[in-house]
Amino acid sequence: MLWNKSLETGIPAIDTQHKELFRQVDILFDKNNKDRVPRTLKFLGEYVVKHFNDEQLLQAKSRYPKALSHKKMHSDFVVAFTKMKQEYDNGNGSLIILLKINRAVSDWLKNHIMIHDKEFATYYKNLQKQKTEDVPIGGSRTAQRSSAP
Ligand SMILES: [Fe+2]
Repeated sequence: MLWNKSLETGIPAIDTQHKELFRQVDILFDKNNKDRVPRTLKFLGEYVVKHFNDEQLLQAKSRYPKALSHKKMHSDFVVAFTKMKQEYDNGNGSLIILLKINRAVSDWLKNHIMIHDKEFATYYKNLQKQKTEDVPIGGSRTAQRSSAP
């Protein structure tokens, strides 16, 4: 599941974390890394939570109107992932369960990023643009630009 440019949101902090998520998923499904599966699953579970928290924080800070429903999608995914991980642990590392996790995680991530994260990114970038376009009282755009570092 290679990361590609179409998954880019344009928010560097989010894109960096997305790339790392995809990298971890790739490690998980590399036949040469069989011994690393439990460790990678654990890392992925923790990293996904960290990433979701960072994204939610940014949404809260920017007063994103869909922040609550976005958060719900994240927590539903965490519940589903935790369940699958438990299934894997209980199934003594079954390959079938691992494949199921692979499909579920990659499908969810791609779909979520393409639709929901990008929707937030559009909102966020518009907000940033508005901020830089705001002309201070008594000032002018030219004056504002020339005083910028
Ligand atoms: Fe998200």
